Amino acid sequence: MKTELLTNKDVQHAGELLKSGEVVAFPTETVYGLGANATDETAVKKVFTAKGRPADNPLIMTIADEQQLDQFVVVSNAARQLMSAFWPGSLTIILPIKPGKVSMIVTGGLQSVAFRLPDNEATRTIIRAAGVPIVGPSANTSGKPSPTTAQHVWHDMQGKIAAIVDDGPTQIGVESTVVDMSVATPTILRPGAITQKQLEDVLKVSVIDATSTESVASDVTPKAPGMKYRHYAPDKQVIMFDRLDVLNLKTALRRNDVVMAQDVTISIMQIPLDQTWSLGETLENATEQLFAGLRFYDDEPHVGVIYVEKMPPIGIGKAFNNRLAKAAGNQEFNV
Ligand code: TXA
Ligand code: MG
Repeated sequence: MKTELLTNKDVQHAGELLKSGEVVAFPTETVYGLGANATDETAVKKVFTAKGRPADNPLIMTIADEQQLDQFVVVSNAARQLMSAFWPGSLTIILPIKPGKVSMIVTGGLQSVAFRLPDNEATRTIIRAAGVPIVGPSANTSGKPSPTTAQHVWHDMQGKIAAIVDDGPTQIGVESTVVDMSVATPTILRPGAITQKQLEDVLKVSVIDATSTESVASDVTPKAPGMKYRHYAPDKQVIMFDRLDVLNLKTALRRNDVVMAQDVTISIMQIPLDQTWSLGETLENATEQLFAGLRFYDDEPHVGVIYVEKMPPIGIGKAFNNRLAKAAGNQEFNV
């Protein structure tokens, strides 16, 4: 299949392709997604095939307007509050499905389904043009870091899908926060730009943080099905490190190893610039750059180990560390 490269001016065409059952990669504010008509099982199956995704890992449904929800799911008042506070935005909300209303192919057999309404005009225009909700997993090959540019998507999906809509680099750089509102106590299954504190401030009840970077044994059913698979991982070895250990790391570093770190850390280390990937100055910069750096070095044949600096676990730093720990298989630099 020849993959068309589209721009954010071709949103109507992208919508038509989706309507006709094709798979189209689309931008969002977090990472690029892989879209297909969520009400067309043949189209949805193509997404699993293109990603190489296990069939029991459910897909997010992506919508342009809140009204698209009601035919599929039961929406509690608490869930409505979250939507008015954070949509459009980087929050995916899991809701109980109305019996028989969502395909088992989408849900992986669960009684709940996740919805997201992205904060990106092009995404919403594409979905409106398609006229149906679209499934929207990240547009990477299963197990690889999520794509934050159209070029990343091209790398993984070229020849496998009908089109890619290029809307430039994504702003946030890690996937949305996933909160389960189908259970008695709201539970965060994946950390993202929207934090536990922000959710609690709106809901006025405590929210459980069930995010974990420990991979679960494959015979156990984890809360977020995605948790049982190795995620966000490049082929190369990734090791995380703490800024306090930079001088020891500098001693341990071999000439073909590379360091992804904040600018201050890089300047303290005084190593050649061609061995470094800047994570900028803020937590937001770092998060935006994480997957791009991992993907870049993964494709550089001469690169040995990729060392990545951990961030303070505040705000979006938690999401950064969560994705980094998965990429590193929890491996830390020890002196
Ligand atoms: O930012 C994002 O959320 C991106 C962009 C493209 O929208 N999408 C994304 O989708 O990250 P995906 O499929 O790569 O990640 C969704 C996660 C998976 O780990 C999946 O297992 C979990 O959400 N999930 C989906 N439906 C679920 C459900 N009903 N119950 C529990 N977990 C669910
Ligand atoms: Mg994903």
